Amino acid sequence: MARRIAIFDTTLRDGEQVPGCGLSKNEKLKIAKELEALGVDVIESGFPISSPGDFESVRLLSKEIKNSSICALSRAVKNDIETAARALEGAVRPRIHTGLGTSDQHVFTKLNFTREQVLEKAHECVTHARSFVDEVEFYAEDAGRTSNEFLAQVIEVAVAAGAKVVNIPDTTGFCLPEEYGAKIKYLVDNVKGIENATISAHCHNDLGLATANSIAAIKNGAGQIECTINGIGERAGNTSLEEVVMVIKKHPELAFETGINTQLLFPISQMVSNTMCMPVQANKAVVGSNAFSHSSGIHQDGVIKNRDNYEIIDPYEVGVNKSSIILTARSGRAALNFRLIELGVHLGKEELEETYQEFLEMADRINIVEDKDLKYLVKNHEVVVK
Ligand code: KIV
Ligand code: ZN
Repeated sequence: MARRIAIFDTTLRDGEQVPGCGLSKNEKLKIAKELEALGVDVIESGFPISSPGDFESVRLLSKEIKNSSICALSRAVKNDIETAARALEGAVRPRIHTGLGTSDQHVFTKLNFTREQVLEKAHECVTHARSFVDEVEFYAEDAGRTSNEFLAQVIEVAVAAGAKVVNIPDTTGFCLPEEYGAKIKYLVDNVKGIENATISAHCHNDLGLATANSIAAIKNGAGQIECTINGIGERAGNTSLEEVVMVIKKHPELAFETGINTQLLFPISQMVSNTMCMPVQANKAVVGSNAFSHSSGIHQDGVIKNRDNYEIIDPYEVGVNKSSIILTARSGRAALNFRLIELGVHLGKEELEETYQEFLEMADRINIVEDKDLKYLVKNHEVVVK
């Protein structure tokens, strides 16, 4: 039986930290409603102590969103936790996400703590958050660069204090997939009481490994993935929601499932991109404008014969109308003829050859040959235009 992986979306918190991408509370609500419809389990809606505007956004989402948990971030600081709790009042399933850095780098050069103080703070922040809400998630910032032995000690303290979810962020996107997977397995094998909590993967993409690391995490026992639409987030971004969801869907042998309605992936990607003024790179997996375009002759010929030759995702599955064949100087006769027939233009063998030579000259000049250009090309030939 497939194991259900919870999808924790942090587009509105980690994603919104991208410079120039700040959202008003109404924009946050608009995106949150789409995330709820998409089927995400948790919406991290903001960091209430950071500004009055963010506090109000979390408050608004807490009132309006019913089907996903609403999560608010806080540091391991009493006032942060209390402010998060106030912002979450009214939420059907409020979650406080609290924690602190655990790597030597963070402990000694950012927090100026001893390791004992980290353990005390972990206990204190989870206990305090639990006095307000049932769903408390603890994060061990920079867990990716924290020794497994110390990380296990911190996580054990957090679980004993009542954390329902323990987040193991690869904050700097440093880990290799096998290393991050082994870290999760180490926690599963060595933390007393871990069976009472869900382990969460929170990966950054500094080395382009966020998706691979998140998948390695669930293969080793994590039950939640933290991610953002289009992979937006600090620096090189976070794990991309659409990528992990489609990896899980396309690989049933892994025996995982999510509650995501994948047909809404492309529409929400477009909506987030427009609202946050963050263009999606054309070759972005799953939702980029070229993700379902075929432009070389060999691929076009293969796709025309059978889509499965080059498409592992049916575009319809992710809400894209259909894949497209882009006509360029790399296209072959088969692709040209295919498009002409779609336009109602039927050419004989010789005419097709002549048109193809003219097409190549044109494509070398203008790069992408569109339908209007094709109509111009065939106007001197005997054609049937339906
Ligand atoms: O990347 C990170 O460590 C975070 C934590 C604050 C959860 O975003
Ligand atoms: Zn993060």
